[in-house]
Amino acid sequence: MILVTGGAGYIGSHCAMALIEKGYDVIVFDNLSTGHLKTLETLKNIARSNNFNFLKGDLLNTENLNKAFSSGNIEAVIHFAAFSQVGESVKDPAKYYRNNICGTLNLLDAMRKYNVDKIVFSSTAATYGEPVRIPIDETHPQNPINPYGFSKLAIEKIMDDFDRAYNIKSVRLRYFNVAGADSKSRLGEWHEPETHLIPNILKSTFANSKTFQMFGTDYDTKDGTCVRDYINIEDLVQAHLLSLEYLKKGGKTDFFNLGTKTGNTVKEVFTLCEKVTAKDISVETKPRREGDPAQLVADNTKAKQILGWRPEKTLEDSIKSAFQWEKKLQAQINS
Ligand SMILES: NC(=O)c1ccc[n+]([C@@H]2O[C@H](COP(=O)([O-])OP(=O)(O)OC[C@H]3O[C@@H](n4cnc5c(N)ncnc54)[C@H](O)[C@@H]3O)[C@@H](O)[C@H]2O)c1
Repeated sequence: MILVTGGAGYIGSHCAMALIEKGYDVIVFDNLSTGHLKTLETLKNIARSNNFNFLKGDLLNTENLNKAFSSGNIEAVIHFAAFSQVGESVKDPAKYYRNNICGTLNLLDAMRKYNVDKIVFSSTAATYGEPVRIPIDETHPQNPINPYGFSKLAIEKIMDDFDRAYNIKSVRLRYFNVAGADSKSRLGEWHEPETHLIPNILKSTFANSKTFQMFGTDYDTKDGTCVRDYINIEDLVQAHLLSLEYLKKGGKTDFFNLGTKTGNTVKEVFTLCEKVTAKDISVETKPRREGDPAQLVADNTKAKQILGWRPEKTLEDSIKSAFQWEKKLQAQINS
């Protein structure tokens, strides 16, 4: 059985769905702080047999964790549960350090207690901070510039120590910008508030929506807007399944970038969104936001070589699936 923390959220739910479809027994552990019950209902409907369970619980509550681990034979953990809004982490770092670091420490302690020795962890490109070279490979210095990034880096360090001292093996996946939805529109991105570029552009195409705000048009990039590396959610999920297999085969603790090695500017993303939605999207340009580097692009060679991973979807695929999902979400909100 695989324990998926944060499985009611955006990325965790897509991963739980892929695990269920592969025939794994899955238990989702989530406190529903930013996740959704409706997402869990979808997962329940997808699970044909009895291979899906949900336990409402908080990583900060050790009794909840004991319940999760004692409920079945947990073979490995895939750990998505965290708070992940950069701006909020600057305003309220205590909330981020407590939930992300203390929560993960409790999880790792429960793994020790119940002899579970494999974990795949959602880390982030935010652990690198301001890039000193592009593309960013895994040897790039890690100097996060906000509490969110620092919380994830602290967890990476804790995981190294837990391997050395207690033999818990981890794979840390450093995501770049995750985008898109399930290609059958069963699940998709659902953050409140939404801080990510693509859903925000798409949301602005619906009636009564705000104008899309483009921050920073004077960067030293080809069209003056920031360059990011958009990795499709289904490709990202595949890397989790491969990481799980890697650990099951006795793989050592390691860390990998998940990105495409292709950068796209905000203007390029915007233009593709106009193409996919066939709408003229109204846009307002704003000054740069503090802490937004000009470029973030992953070197994904290591994940390709060691995990045998290949991102296959294009940015247009991600925008198309995100748009299909957004239509469904808007209909649900307005019904
Ligand atoms: N979305 C991205 O582009 C991106 C990029 C890099 C890294 N990440 C990381 O990926 C992971 C998933 O991100 P997401 O976009 O799916 O976020 P999300 O907010 O949609 O999902 C997080 C889930 O964790 C749950 N959760 C949070 N704290 C918890 C706690 N203490 N106990 C139990 N459950 C808890 C929430 O209820 C939610 O369901 C996070 O760790 C995030 O930092 C995301």
